[in-house]
Amino acid sequence: MTNGTAPLRIAFVLFPAFAALDVFGPLGALNMASFEHPMTLALISTDLEPISIDRKIIDGFYRVDVIIVPGGHGTFDMELTQPHVDYLHAQMENPDLSYIMTVCTGASLLARTGAMAGRNATTNKAAFEWVQSVENATDINWIAKARWVVDGNLWTSSGVSAGTDMTLGWLEHLFGKNESERVRIYLEWNKLEQDDDPFAELLGLV
Ligand SMILES: *[C@@H]1O[C@H](CO)[C@@H](O)[C@H](O)[C@H]1NC(C)=O
Ligand SMILES: *[C@@H]1O[C@H](CO)[C@@H](O)[C@H](O)[C@H]1NC(C)=O
Ligand SMILES: *[C@@H]1O[C@H](CO)[C@@H](O)[C@H](O)[C@H]1NC(C)=O
Repeated sequence: MTNGTAPLRIAFVLFPAFAALDVFGPLGALNMASFEHPMTLALISTDLEPISIDRKIIDGFYRVDVIIVPGGHGTFDMELTQPHVDYLHAQMENPDLSYIMTVCTGASLLARTGAMAGRNATTNKAAFEWVQSVENATDINWIAKARWVVDGNLWTSSGVSAGTDMTLGWLEHLFGKNESERVRIYLEWNKLEQDDDPFAELLGLV
């Protein structure tokens, strides 16, 4: 038990085929809380192998078709994230890559590769100006008022929860509205639509 001052140590135990939102919805809420209340948050497992969250384990896990780049405070650390930027840069040569998606300030990592030049994109409204300040971000058409933006195979969402709305929009694009609605209803998720972005105004961008 916590003595009231020591951080509460919270760990999620990951196993193959875990339901992503079961972890990341609660983790997102705790992550926000952890800025004010001492706690450590960890994802733990039995080894360092990739953990598939698909229903079946896929052979050749590293040959990816879709890359989703999350955001968060880690994206502000240029040195820490340079290997991830390098990885993304290398993946631009991957012929299998069908879609690349960013959530929140994850757009800054992809922007730094130079691969978003000339494309339309959005990002977290609270960090909008900061994302525009990273290397190679000036050639991008940043759209302030959008829950998410689609430019060909590049899908970028606004902050945090917008990533789930974008993902539902992408499922609709891939599988149709009935299927995205089936998922949304199963998640009991209240979705904002692509152009429905109250946060751009709340954060003074429009
Ligand atoms: C910026 O983009 C160019 C062109 O793709 C690339 O060569 C360069 O490495 C990028 N800068 C960084 C910091 O990745
Ligand atoms: C990019 O955004 C502009 C508006 O800023 C729009 O006119 C254009 O059609 C968009 N391009 C794509 C590929 O969606
Ligand atoms: C989508 O759902 C509606 C209402 O349940 C149904 O009438 C329609 O046939 C479905 N469309 C497809 C493509 O499954």
